Amino acid sequence: MASVSSDKRVPFIAGNWKMNLDHLQSIAFVQKLAWSLKDANHDFAKTEVAVFPPFTDLRSVQTLISADKLELGFGAQDVSAHASGAYTGEIAAQFLKALDVRYVIIGHSERRQYHNETDELLAQKIAIAIENGIVPVICVGETAEDLELHGQSAVPVAQLRAALALAGGATNIVVAYEPVWAIGSGQAATPEQAEQVAEQLRLVVAEILGDEVADATRILYGGSVKSTNIAGFLRKPNVDGALVGGASLDIAEFASISQFRKHVGT
Ligand code: 13P
Repeated sequence: MASVSSDKRVPFIAGNWKMNLDHLQSIAFVQKLAWSLKDANHDFAKTEVAVFPPFTDLRSVQTLISADKLELGFGAQDVSAHASGAYTGEIAAQFLKALDVRYVIIGHSERRQYHNETDELLAQKIAIAIENGIVPVICVGETAEDLELHGQSAVPVAQLRAALALAGGATNIVVAYEPVWAIGSGQAATPEQAEQVAEQLRLVVAEILGDEVADATRILYGGSVKSTNIAGFLRKPNVDGALVGGASLDIAEFASISQFRKHVGT
């Protein structure tokens, strides 16, 4: 059995579906995933697992999870920085809360890149998620160019500091370190690289939210995670789970990643 990063924190495997699977597909997927995990005797108290479907799937996923009393969690992929009003196309934190959404991904590099989301906007989104009792999964990470110019941790550290600017008093956050160069590339960071940045990110959480919150905060690694490399990340003391993209769309693979404790030698 692979040993786990820390006894203090329950490891968290999060599947970011991105813009894949409609609401009908989401129902079939969640049923099969729940069955696969049950079949593998998955212990959710020891490893939390959640899916992050598109907005239009959330009601279906919520209904299924609640009706079948599944232990699988779910979250949204984004949230509006505004509480309500004339913001065509946006989704309020309050609406997510009404669907029992537990988590929301904020600041994914695809939102930063394709929707020009700034650190200031992300800080507002994080604040409104926290106000509504939704745990933000705050994404940070450097591009290949940043890596060359500034090294590995400078950009993620600066992004996290900016993201937490309005989050004073927060006690429950998740941080995801996703190097942009590793996303969808098949070239994951090494566990050592992930650990080095995660350690720096935990120091930022400690500096802004205090030691106790920093100790309790799960820091995930994301970028080309698969069942064959997950155990190496989770063996690191500051890496507490993974934010999985492509591999989260394959039920057997995602179930296997969730079962990382069973993997050896990777
Ligand atoms: P991949 O796992 O497909 O590299 O994507 C990572 C990611 O962006 C998760 O948010």
